[in-house]
Amino acid sequence: MSTHARITASVYTSHVPAIGVAMDQGRTQDPYWQPLFAGYEASRRWMDAHRPDAIVLVYNDHANAFSLDMIPTFALGTAERYEPADEGWGPRAVPPVLGHGELAAHLAQSVIQQDFDLTLVNRMTVDHGLTVPLSLMFGEQPAGAPHWPVPVIPLAVNVVQYPVPSGRRCLQLGQAIRRAVESFDAPLKVQVWGTGGMSHQLQGPRAGLINQTWDQAWMDRLIADPRGLSEMPHLEYVREAGSEGIELVMWLIARGAMSDLADLPGLDAPPRAPRVAHRFYHVPASNTAVGHLILENP
Ligand code: DHB
Ligand code: FE
Repeated sequence: MSTHARITASVYTSHVPAIGVAMDQGRTQDPYWQPLFAGYEASRRWMDAHRPDAIVLVYNDHANAFSLDMIPTFALGTAERYEPADEGWGPRAVPPVLGHGELAAHLAQSVIQQDFDLTLVNRMTVDHGLTVPLSLMFGEQPAGAPHWPVPVIPLAVNVVQYPVPSGRRCLQLGQAIRRAVESFDAPLKVQVWGTGGMSHQLQGPRAGLINQTWDQAWMDRLIADPRGLSEMPHLEYVREAGSEGIELVMWLIARGAMSDLADLPGLDAPPRAPRVAHRFYHVPASNTAVGHLILENP
């Protein structure tokens, strides 16, 4: 039994705000939404059986906590708690997010010492980018629940205002997060989630763009060829997956944290690929394609 923390799995999911609205308004069994939520039933059972002690939740803020006044590329949440943001219709009626101060402080120390110049955030609200993935994976929470079932360390990535980080940098940040987690001196089970995507464009002449073939091929490569995929230029995301498809670079952070991407010198056996515990894809949800993966470390 290890005395240090370890990454047990990574979870990937889109964060379409209308999904949160459908849950909050009790419309998940409407014909439009039923097939989407059916795809997450297995995920919720998996989460019941594989509940971690903490989640590093990689997501993007949509000009709610941040704005054009200040644009951190990678912002790590080191707060005790985070309230849901008011995105214009009042805050979602979901529980506040409980942080994990000790692990967050350790991640800050370790990741910054590994030369990633994170921004640290001690106070912010969290928008649909973070709360919709929690809703999808944990389901509706009882009224008055004091917080979500698992502490969350938010990692907000700027994918809204160019310049945005490269896929390669995101994969490397995931690798740094894995090293940081594995040097935390308590036997915690930690998941890293990558959220946002898949193909979608919300504005301009191509609004409504969805590219199912490209999305599926991208997920194939995320599983089997993450290093190669991390070299994909921004232009290809925007051209093939729409302007908001660029959110997908965040999935590479979670993928980089998986053990097959650890650089262990002298290891004779090739690293074992993660196990695909669940894969789901659905079109449409609002204006976007929804993609979802659960990868377990062997
Ligand atoms: C929508 C908004 C998002 O932030 C997103 O990532 C996907 C969809 C929307 O408004 O439909
Ligand atoms: Fe978004």
